[in-house]
Formats: sequence, structure tokens, C-alpha cells
Amino acid sequence: MARLLVTGGAGFIGSNFVHHVVANTDHHVTVLDKLTYAGNLASLEGLPEDRVRFVQGDICDAAIVDELFDQADSVVHYAAESHNDNSLNDPRPFLDTNIIGTYVLLEAARRHETRYHHISTDEVYGDLELDDPERFTEQTPYNPSSPYSSTKAGSDLLVRAWVRSFGVQATISNCSNNYGPYQHVEKFIPRQITNVIRGIRPKLYGRGENVRDWIHAEDHSSAVLAILEGGRIGETYLIGADGEKNNKDVVAMILRLMGLPEDAFDHVTDRAGHDLRYAIDSSKLREELGWEPRFGDFEAGLADTIRWYRDHESWWADAKGATEAFYASKGQ
Ligand code: NAD
Ligand code: TYD
Repeated sequence: MARLLVTGGAGFIGSNFVHHVVANTDHHVTVLDKLTYAGNLASLEGLPEDRVRFVQGDICDAAIVDELFDQADSVVHYAAESHNDNSLNDPRPFLDTNIIGTYVLLEAARRHETRYHHISTDEVYGDLELDDPERFTEQTPYNPSSPYSSTKAGSDLLVRAWVRSFGVQATISNCSNNYGPYQHVEKFIPRQITNVIRGIRPKLYGRGENVRDWIHAEDHSSAVLAILEGGRIGETYLIGADGEKNNKDVVAMILRLMGLPEDAFDHVTDRAGHDLRYAIDSSKLREELGWEPRFGDFEAGLADTIRWYRDHESWWADAKGATEAFYASKGQ
């Protein structure tokens, strides 16, 4: 049994990880989460109180971070401002949480000599051409495009520096786009599912040819646990499940699974600086740690996700109005 501190554990991927840890290990978990607009305590409902403790707080607050590191064997850092469209509108919170927050955690890891795993994104590598045979690897140079991805890239570089300069016991993972339950309705897949439930047509940015490499959040969680348990200190691992799809095909699949014509969507204003394609080569993780994704069938995973949003309208209803008002103000 270990004591894990999970930052951002009331967010999408963090809450999926907490559920995964409770179901698959005997670890005890403390969640540190600020409960920004993206955090939702309902995502942690049903978890056993003797295994999971929730602390509301900011990762930029060194005092609370220090206190919680003192009580933890390992830390998994998910907390972030995570949405590209918000980062284009107001970058400042991205600098505060993603850069300064990571710095505060690294200083605590250094003081307490705590095992630290840093969650990041493949967006730090920039984008690929549609016809490029290459995929991102751990050797791909950093080339982020947006305020979101540049602050994530900055946070990764801080981790590398704290490993080399101060001997912090850290690993980093860069994962592709996640889907599954508990994802905020601002993101592509839940936005379109909840639009259809509400009778609104799905909204595709630009021509819809942009490609994302989809992975189920459950597979991301199992990969993070494998790295936490067996990853080599100082190393980066890319996480992906060979799930490349363009946005138009994903919208068509959602519409078909929800019983509507595949062309019942609208094209809307494109995102500024919109990355064209992401694609992950996760050979290192698979070969070194024997990890394999379990959700190989994207259409089946998407059907499960649609069912989850249909069955959990009370989880997302409050956020839907504000999210759509924000998009409407930008012609999206
Ligand atoms: P999310 O926006 O759903 O959740 C973020 C959580 O962090 C929320 O609960 C929020 O309340 C909390 N938080 C924000 N600022 C905080 C602060 N200052 N102090 C404490 N808590 C704070 O994000 P997500 O999609 O679950 O992403 C989690 C992590 O995974 C991020 O680091 C993101 O960069 C990374 N990631 C996401 C994806 C994806 O597809 N969503 C893919 C790869 C990597
Ligand atoms: P998103 O979920 O915001 O993730 P990311 O920007 O991290 O890839 O968007 C995924 C893709 O979907 C991206 O190419 C932008 C596009 N998109 C739309 O076409 N329509 C939408 O309403 C949203 C939110 C995103």
C-alpha cells in the first residue's frame, strides 16, 4: 500500500485515474484540487471514504502543497488549465497553474524527496502534416503552438531541469487526446454528444480535417500506473493507442451512433493556430513496461461514452449553458 497525492483529481483524467487506482490497487489517495470551473466533486462520488480523501486547494499554494507532500509517498500531477480555446482567450491562468504550480510541486518534491510523476500532452511537440509517415516519439523536438501547449512544454522542461540539477525522482508522460466519462463539455467529443442530446447541431472547426489520436482515459490511467511503478527516473514516456481519426469522421460516428444523419453538423469558425495532426508512437512504453491499451475499439468506447452522457445529464447540465455562451461569442 502506498499513499498517493493526485493533483487535479476532480478533473477529467485525474478522476478517471483515482477510480482506476481504487479499483486496481490498495493505495490510498489524497486529491488536491482547486475546483476551478473544470473540477467537479461529483466525479469522485461513490469512492470509498477510507481510501480517498479530498482537499480543496491551489497547487500554487506552497504551504498546503508542503503539508500534503509530507503525507505522501508518490505524487501524480494532473492539475492544469487544460483547454486550448480558453488559453487563446485568456492565457494568464495557464501560466499561473501550469508553470508556477508545477514549480511549487517540484520544489516540494525536492524538499521531501518524493517520487513525482508529471502528466503532460503530446501537444508539446506541435503538429504533423496529414501525409507525414512519422509519428511523435520521445526524441521529437518541442514545438508547441498555443498558450496551453507552450505552458505544458514549459512545465515539462522544468521537470527535466529539476531531475538533472536537484536529483528529483521524476518521470514524465505525454499522452494523446483522451475521451471517456467525466470530460468537461467544453471539449470536442462531449460537446458534440451533449449538443445532440440538447437538439443542437454539432460544431466542426474549419474543414474538420484535423486529426487527433484518441485514447480512452482508462488506458491512460493504466499507463500512468505502469510508469509510476516501473518507469525509469528521468525518463519520458509517450502514451497513445493508435487511435488516429479526423474530426469530421468522429462527428459522423457520433451522429450515426445517436441515430442522426452523418451530415447533420455545422462548420464554424476555425481555431486560431489550429494544430493539424497529432500521432503518437508509444513503442517505448509498450516495450519497456509491457503496457497495452485495452480499449482498442474506438467506436465501442465512443458508444459507451455516449451512454454515460445520456445517463449523467445532471453531471454536465450546469456547465453546458456557460460553455455554449462562450463558444457563441466567438462564432463557434
Ligand atoms: P481538466 O481541465 O478536466 O481538469 C483539470 C483539473 O485541475 C480540474 O479539476 C481543476 O479544478 C484542477 N485545477 C486547475 N487549476 C488548479 C490549481 N491551480 N490547483 C489545483 N487544482 C487545479 O483537465 P484534464 O483534461 O483532465 O487534463 C488533466 C491533465 O492531463 C492536464 O495536465 C493535461 O495537460 C493533461 N492531458 C490532457 C489530455 C486530454 O485529452 N484532456 C491529453 C493529454 C494530457
Ligand atoms: P479539443 O477537445 O479542444 O482538444 P485539443 O485541442 O487538445 O486537441 O479539440 C479536439 C479537436 O476538435 C481539435 O482539432 C479542435 C476540434 N474541435 C471542433 O472541431 N469543434 C469543437 O466544438 C471543439 C471544442 C473542438
